[in-house]
Amino acid sequence: MGLLMLLHVLLVAAAARAPAAQAWGKEGHYMTCKIADGFLTSEALTGVKALLPSWANGELAEVCSWADSQRFRYRWSSPLHFADTPGDCKFSYARDCHGTKGEKDMCVVGGINNYTAALQDSSSPYNRTESLLFLSHFLGDIHQPMHCGRTADLGGNTIVVTWYNTTKTNLHKVWDEKVIETAMNRFYKDDRSAMIQAIKLNLTNEWSKEENQWAACYTRTTTCADKYAEESAELSCPAYVGAEQGCNLEDEYFFSALPVVQKRLAQGGVRLAAILNRIFGGNGRLQSI
Ligand SMILES: *[C@@H]1O[C@H](CO)[C@@H](O)[C@H](O)[C@H]1NC(C)=O
Ligand SMILES: *[C@@H]1O[C@H](CO)[C@@H](O)[C@H](O)[C@H]1NC(C)=O
Ligand SMILES: *[C@@H]1O[C@H](CO)[C@@H](O)[C@H](O)[C@H]1NC(C)=O
Ligand SMILES: *[C@@H]1O[C@H](CO)[C@@H](O)[C@H](O)[C@H]1NC(C)=O
Ligand SMILES: [Zn+2]
Repeated sequence: MGLLMLLHVLLVAAAARAPAAQAWGKEGHYMTCKIADGFLTSEALTGVKALLPSWANGELAEVCSWADSQRFRYRWSSPLHFADTPGDCKFSYARDCHGTKGEKDMCVVGGINNYTAALQDSSSPYNRTESLLFLSHFLGDIHQPMHCGRTADLGGNTIVVTWYNTTKTNLHKVWDEKVIETAMNRFYKDDRSAMIQAIKLNLTNEWSKEENQWAACYTRTTTCADKYAEESAELSCPAYVGAEQGCNLEDEYFFSALPVVQKRLAQGGVRLAAILNRIFGGNGRLQSI
């Protein structure tokens, strides 16, 4: 625990200095994976549990931020967390899915395809636990609109803003953490599971019809991660409006971002479950447990 805590402190300090894209903070990744957990078939649940490291305590959601903590150990994995675009609200795999030096496939879409394929292939040389943890994390990242934001501002990381006149932060972090933190504080008594329940309730009410389509484009050979990145790139454009360098963001921005954030967390969860159900067998149909 002491070592983990120290690592965490070092990571936070490093993250504060480097304007690197992080994607959903711990809460967002936990929520995405917790939602996914509820839609896993019993076969998938068994398959997932067999791969979880002991420190997960049997819970996928507990290890869904692991990939962020590995960005310094596995430097090559850094570009796999996002897919920035020129700012035209569109994502194009051929144009946008590359690392900072142009390395092909090194973006979040390539990462999802890579680790889905690795888990489907029992002869893959990749560490299956790491493949699962990367895949589960990247399904969260790809749904955070600022992860397909503009290259010029590193997905909002260089746009410094103030949150409710008090906290100095940046536009990327507003989407990673601030909207979720403020929502939890205001509406859910800082109780993460209450917020997850509210999102899940929407899955059975508000979104029950469209939800069937969320994972629909998934086939055995493609994860449709392209589509998820396209959606995020499109959502990133309105997210830049009214969020200029140095401005203060409060209620108006919060209330327009919150429904988007909640829906993206839900979609990430439902889609992660669909992918894991396909990988680990079972009928792959969505069923809430
Ligand atoms: C695929 O996974 C391997 C093993 O972790 C890694 O070395 C490689 O960079 C990954 N490529 C992509 C595009 O994710
Ligand atoms: C697989 O990766 C996990 C997490 O990094 C590690 O703890 C484990 O030792 C690795 N397994 C093998 C066989 O290398
Ligand atoms: C933030 O500051 C602006 C300008 O001083 C003020 O109009 C606004 O009410 C303040 N918001 C909060 C939440 O205090
Ligand atoms: C539920 O869905 C409505 C309509 O789409 C949305 O405005 C609201 O933010 C959602 N709430 C949660 C908790 O997801
Ligand atoms: Zn990430």
